[in-house]
Amino acid sequence: MRDAYDAMAPFYDAFSGEYPVYRAGRLAGIAGLGPEPGARVLDAGCGTGLNFGPLMERVGPGGAVVGIDRSAGMLRRAERRAAAHGWDNVVLVQADLETMAPDRIAALLGSVGAGAGSPTSRAGLATYSLSLMPGWRRVAEHLADGLGHGARLCVVDMQQPVGRARWLAPLAELACALGGSDIAAHPWTAVEDRCREVGGASVRGGHLQARWGTLSAVGNG
Ligand SMILES: C[S@@+](CC[C@H](N)C(=O)[O-])C[C@H]1O[C@@H](n2cnc3c(N)ncnc32)[C@H](O)[C@@H]1O
Repeated sequence: MRDAYDAMAPFYDAFSGEYPVYRAGRLAGIAGLGPEPGARVLDAGCGTGLNFGPLMERVGPGGAVVGIDRSAGMLRRAERRAAAHGWDNVVLVQADLETMAPDRIAALLGSVGAGAGSPTSRAGLATYSLSLMPGWRRVAEHLADGLGHGARLCVVDMQQPVGRARWLAPLAELACALGGSDIAAHPWTAVEDRCREVGGASVRGGHLQARWGTLSAVGNG
């Protein structure tokens, strides 16, 4: 079935507001996630692969990125990006995260990179993707369970701007509506629920929220 993002894929990098707005959130999130050299990072809803460059700078050739997305069109762009940079340690998987079980996530991460992989060398990242999924709470639970205790997790997503930036609310709402995101979802709360040593960033007038932490054995709730 053709996904709405298949139609957006050719225009996504140019028209998604990456440089004026959204890059700041992904860079803050990836810095907080802090994947170590050699780490395997699962990029949930990877889209065209805008996270790959900053991730590759951190994990290096000994690490790996597993990008999962539902849209074949977005994945084709991601594949082109990886090929253009010679990142042969990027693995792309077309799948619906809403139906992906934790053991499949664990198996995908286990199938890439060198060695057995310690918990601290596993990480999960979701930038501007969970707010598109009505079942994001369950998706986040499955990501956390699949990554396992001790792994790192980071969610970056959108909300209404706050304080003096509140006048930009209509623009933020429009951006979310065009992309199909639920601006009220606040999926970074999953990191607060499942992780210890939680850190965060609020950028672009609070429109972009990032949270990161280390997964606990059980939830904090
Ligand atoms: C707004 S884009 C963000 C892409 C990328 N993470 C970024 O930061 O640029 C959202 C992505 O999530 C993907 N997506 C939405 N729902 C999904 C699902 N249930 N399973 C897998 N991918 C999904 C879309 O296909 C799209 O590529």
